[in-house]
Amino acid sequence: MSKLFLPLAIKGITLKNRIVVSPMCQYSSIDGFANQWHLVHLGSRAVGGAGLLITEAIAVSPEGRISPDDLGIWKDEHIGKLAEITDFIKAQGAVPGIQLAHAGRKGSTYTSWKGNGKIPVAEGGWETVAPSAMPFADDYPHPAALDLAGIQKVIGDFKASAKRAYEAGFEVAEIHAAHGYLLHQFLSPLSNKRIDQYGGSFENRSRLLLEVIDAVKSVWPVDLPLFVRISATDWSASEEGWDLPQSIQLAVLLKEKGVDVLDVSTGGNLASAKIPVGPAYQLPFATAIKKETGITTATVGLITSAVQAETILVNEDADLILFARELLRDPYFPLRAAKELREDIAWPEQYARAK
Ligand SMILES: Cc1cc2nc3c(=O)[nH]c(=O)nc-3n(C[C@H](O)[C@H](O)[C@H](O)COP(=O)(O)O)c2cc1C
Repeated sequence: MSKLFLPLAIKGITLKNRIVVSPMCQYSSIDGFANQWHLVHLGSRAVGGAGLLITEAIAVSPEGRISPDDLGIWKDEHIGKLAEITDFIKAQGAVPGIQLAHAGRKGSTYTSWKGNGKIPVAEGGWETVAPSAMPFADDYPHPAALDLAGIQKVIGDFKASAKRAYEAGFEVAEIHAAHGYLLHQFLSPLSNKRIDQYGGSFENRSRLLLEVIDAVKSVWPVDLPLFVRISATDWSASEEGWDLPQSIQLAVLLKEKGVDVLDVSTGGNLASAKIPVGPAYQLPFATAIKKETGITTATVGLITSAVQAETILVNEDADLILFARELLRDPYFPLRAAKELREDIAWPEQYARAK
C-alpha cells in the first residue's frame, strides 16, 4: 500500500488519504456568502478524490477580509450556504475543513483581477488593524494598532466563527496564522513593535495566537481536529524576523495546547523577502518541526506529483501533503495519482466507466 493513500485517523475523523486541498482564496463572494462557484470549486475536488478539503481563508469579521470578495463566517446567515458545501463534500467520502482567518494590515485590497493595491474607504474599503501602525508595503493601507479591546474582539470573532463553522458541518478547523495575516503579524518582530503584553518577547508575540486557540477550543468539539497554519520563516535577511527556531518553540506550545496538525508554509510578512522557490522548497521546515517536536505536520508548496508526495511520506518528512495549484490545474489529480502509484481506489460510481 502506498503511503499517500494510507488513511490517517486524527481524533474522531479518518482521512481516506493524505491528499489535502490547500486553502485557496477564490475572491468570488458577495458579502461573505458562499455561492455556486464555491460549491463547484470544492465539490469537484471532492469528486476528484482528495481526502481533506480546506476552504479558502474565511474571514471571521468584515474587517478581517483580504478583499471585499472573500468568503466570511461573521454572521449566522453565512452558515446555510456553507452547509450545502460540507454536505456535498461528506457525500463524496471526503472531510470538509475550514480556514478561519483575519487579514489584519493586508486587508482592504483589490482582488488581483479587479485592481491593484489598497481600496480606499470611499471606494468600499475599510480601516485595517494590525499589532502596530505600520503598512505591509507602500501600496497597502495604513493600519491602526489594535488596542486591548480590539484584541479581545478579534479573539471573540475567532471563537464565534469556529462555533458557526461546526454548525455549518466542518470537521476540521484550521487557524490561519501564516502569510503575513493578522496572527502572523503578531508573531513576527518585523510587524509587531508593541510594548505591552502582546509584543516584545517571544512569549508576548505568541500570546494572541495562543489565546485564539483557547477560544476556538472552547467551542470546537474535542473529537474534531484543530490545525494551525504558520509561516515557519519570514525569509528575512536580517536577524529580526520570525524564523525556524521560533517556529519550533511555538510548535512545542501548540502541541501542549492540543493542536493536532501544524500546516507549515512560509513567508508573506516581508514584501522584500527573497524566497528560494523550487520543488517542495518548504518541506525542510515541516520536517525540522516534526523531528524536533513530534507534532503531526502538513507540508505545502510546489509539490506537483504523486511520486514526489509519496517520497515525502515514505521518508517520514511530513504526515500530510497539501496541494494548491496542481489541484487547480487538475481537480482529479488524486484519481490520477492513485493510478500512478498502482492503488485501486474507489472512483465516484458516476465516473466508474472511465477508471
Ligand atoms: C489562488 C490561490 C489562493 C490562495 N489562497 C490561500 C488562502 O486563502 N489561504 C492560505 O493559507 N493560502 C492560500 N494560498 C496558498 C496555497 O494554499 C499554497 O500554500 C501555495 O499556493 C503553495 O502551494 P502550491 O505550490 O501547491 O500551489 C493560495 C494560493 C493560490 C494559488
